[in-house]
Parts: sequence; C-alpha cells; structure tokens
Amino acid sequence: MSLRTLRLMTAGESHGPMLVSILEGLPAGVPVDMDAIDADLKRRMGGYGRGKRMKIENDRARVVGGVRHGQTLGSPIAYLIENKDWPNWEHIMGTEAPSATDTEGGAVAESGNAPAGRVDPRRVSRPRPGHADLAGGLKYDRSDLRDILERASARETASRVAAGGFCKQFLAALDVEIASHVVRIGSAVLEATAVDFDTIRDTADDSPVRCVDDAAGGRMIKAIDAASDDLDTLGGVFEVAARNIPVGLGSHVQWDRKLDARIAHAMISIPAQKAVEIGDAIWAAGQPGSAVHDAITFDAVNRTYERPTNRAGGTEGGVTYGGELRVRVYMKPLSTLRRPLASVDIDTGEAVEAVVQRTDTCAVPAAAVVGEAMLALVLADACMEKFGGDSLAETQRNWRGFLEQIREFPPQR
Ligand SMILES: Cc1cc2nc3c(=O)[nH]c(=O)nc-3n(C[C@H](O)[C@H](O)[C@H](O)COP(=O)(O)O)c2cc1C
Repeated sequence: MSLRTLRLMTAGESHGPMLVSILEGLPAGVPVDMDAIDADLKRRMGGYGRGKRMKIENDRARVVGGVRHGQTLGSPIAYLIENKDWPNWEHIMGTEAPSATDTEGGAVAESGNAPAGRVDPRRVSRPRPGHADLAGGLKYDRSDLRDILERASARETASRVAAGGFCKQFLAALDVEIASHVVRIGSAVLEATAVDFDTIRDTADDSPVRCVDDAAGGRMIKAIDAASDDLDTLGGVFEVAARNIPVGLGSHVQWDRKLDARIAHAMISIPAQKAVEIGDAIWAAGQPGSAVHDAITFDAVNRTYERPTNRAGGTEGGVTYGGELRVRVYMKPLSTLRRPLASVDIDTGEAVEAVVQRTDTCAVPAAAVVGEAMLALVLADACMEKFGGDSLAETQRNWRGFLEQIREFPPQR
C-alpha cells in the first residue's frame, strides 16, 4: 500500500549467502554515488548497544543491474548485499537437502532436544516471545522455527537502507533532504523538542547513540549499559525529518493516497516499530485546537504560503504543504533476551526457556537509519506519482513547472 509508483522487492535470509533486491521506478539519469549508499549501510550497522554480528559485517551493495557509468538507466536497479559470515552458515542454511552424513552424530541441535535421528544443527524448537517464531511456524507449518526467524530478522533492513540510498539521491535532485536522530532510549529522554534540521543532520552521527545532545546521549548510554548488565533490552523513539518538501505530495481524495498514512505504513513495517507520530500528535491529543493548529500566513514577495509553526509535522489532509516532515517512531524493546522468557518446546509441549539467538541490547540508533530509508522511499514514490517522468530531466522540468504554477495560485479563470 505504501508505494504506488516505485516497487521494492527484497529476498534473502539473515544467515543466507546474500540479500537480493530490486528497486524499480526511479527515472533514468539519477547520479548514483555507491560510496554514500555503503556509508548508510555502515550507519545501519552502528550504534551503541549492538551485538557481535555487527562487528563481523561490513555491508556493501553490489549493483548488478539498472546503473551504468554512475547513473540510473530507468530500468530496475538490482543489487546484492553479501553475508560475510556465510562460510560459517553454509552447512546450516544451504539449499541442498541434508545428506545422511549431515544428519548423523556430530552437530548438536541448538534446541538441545532434536528428535532422535534428526540431529539438526541450529534447529530452533523453543520459540522466542515477541518474535515471529511461533506465529510464523504455525502459519507456514515448519518444524524448524529457524525457517521463520531467518527471514523475519531485521537483517533484511540492509536491503531497504540501500534502496533508500538510491531514493535519497533522486530526492536530492529535487532539493529534498532527510535526516534522523534518537530522542529516547528506555527512560532516557532528549528533553529538547523541535531540534532544527541542520543540528540533526550535522551532529546526530557524532554520537554513539545518534543523539544530538551530549548529556542526554550519556544518559542513553548508561541506560543501555544497565540493561545489558541485567541481560535485558531497551526500545525507544527516533525522529526522521525531511525538508524542502514540495507542496502537494499525497492526496486527500482516497484513503490509500494520503501521505501521512503511507509514511505510517512504511515505518511500522520496520521490525519492532509499533507506533508512529506525525508532528506533535501525542502532545496535541491533549490540547485544545486553538493551541495546536498552525496558522497560515502569506509572503507576498515570494508568493508563498507559510506556517510560523509546524505542529502538524508537514501534512494536512494527507497532503504536504511545504513544511518540514517530522515523524517520530516508537520501537519496542528487543524481544530476544539473554535471560530468556518462558516458552514451550514445540517438540514436547513442555514448558522451557525460549532459545537465545545472538542479539543486540538496543537498536534504536540503527532503526533510525532504516527510518530515513523508508521515508526516502515513500517520498521518492510520492514525487514520481506527482511529477512523473522517464528521465530525471523530465521529472525536474515537471517539478519546476509545478513550483511555478503554485506561485501563480489561485488560477485566473
Ligand atoms: C535495526 C534492527 C535491529 C534489530 N535487532 C534485533 C536483535 O538483535 N534482537 C531482537 O530480538 N530483535 C531485533 N530487532 C527486532 C526484531 O527483528 C523484531 O522485533 C522481530 O522480527 C518481531 O517483529 P515485530 O517486533 O515487528 O513484531 C531489530 C530490529 C531492527 C530494526
């Protein structure tokens, strides 16, 4: 639902050989900087509170279609992100049916109780509460819950970050910029509200928790350390901001064209994100309308309509009005606990502790980078819907024409 003109398909399991992705719908002629895309992939792997795997990974997107001589071709962009740890998983995640020697002796099931004669390395039979393990296992009728967790893993978000990277480069040609920062981890909160765009863009990445305020960032780090000492996990809140948004993205005319709804869908699709706030929505719900809505003014020199405040966060009626987009996303604490919760062994029906997979203590800083990518996808999609074009030059001509039209508003008919 959230994409109308672009298409993104991703495939691949967390410990499979690679993630494979196809992004279709960007015009030809968008300059492509692969270093910037790899830099975003690196930002996704960072952040205080991540686990061991992030130290092994060094994700890079290898383009195998849709880009030539540093520009998009208008054809589907196809890219691969390899799993550097594949040699250690080849045996467990291979596509071939296991041979007799694979299933005899030697390897010990992670569940610790694989059925006799089926010694299956890393088989998972003790579903983790808060993960797709059990619901997915029941739905897809799998006896090894690894068949579910491998795809449900947030590893897939690397594909999205690369897709978002292409979209950011397209959006830059329309002057649109995107940045993100972390505003809460557990009970440690950034008190400042309405952090300006330049501060977010220029300072968030200097902090290990991607927080723009050192004192608040310090409290966040302490909270992560305390949770880690307790063998526990934390969630939090991040904000994604976008500026120079053209007026008129999205539409009020149909429920599934509303841009705020498309953004919410895209954000909730990121694993572990459970609520989305546009603008000051949570505060506004407790205020009278007179304190909330943004007054409209007119700049007669530039012939632009302005909002001295931006509490709506960039959309009214599902349509952008030119103000910055401000989206806050609420992430639940990670589900895999090193002190596992109660679960049930699907082989025996007995009460057991859930299996423990490698896990982060906190991934809010990384999730914020994924949030940037998802906003970039939705905005690139909405720009292509509004301006169209098969080449970037055509899209830009249509965009400039529309900006001109707005300056002449209202129409003299
Ligand atoms: C960047 C990122 C990293 C994540 N890392 C972990 C992790 O290490 N351990 C964990 O239990 N969940 C992690 N998650 C969350 C799970 O993937 C997610 O909670 C799970 O797949 C269930 O989906 P749901 O929470 O959307 O219902 C991560 C999420 C993101 C966005």
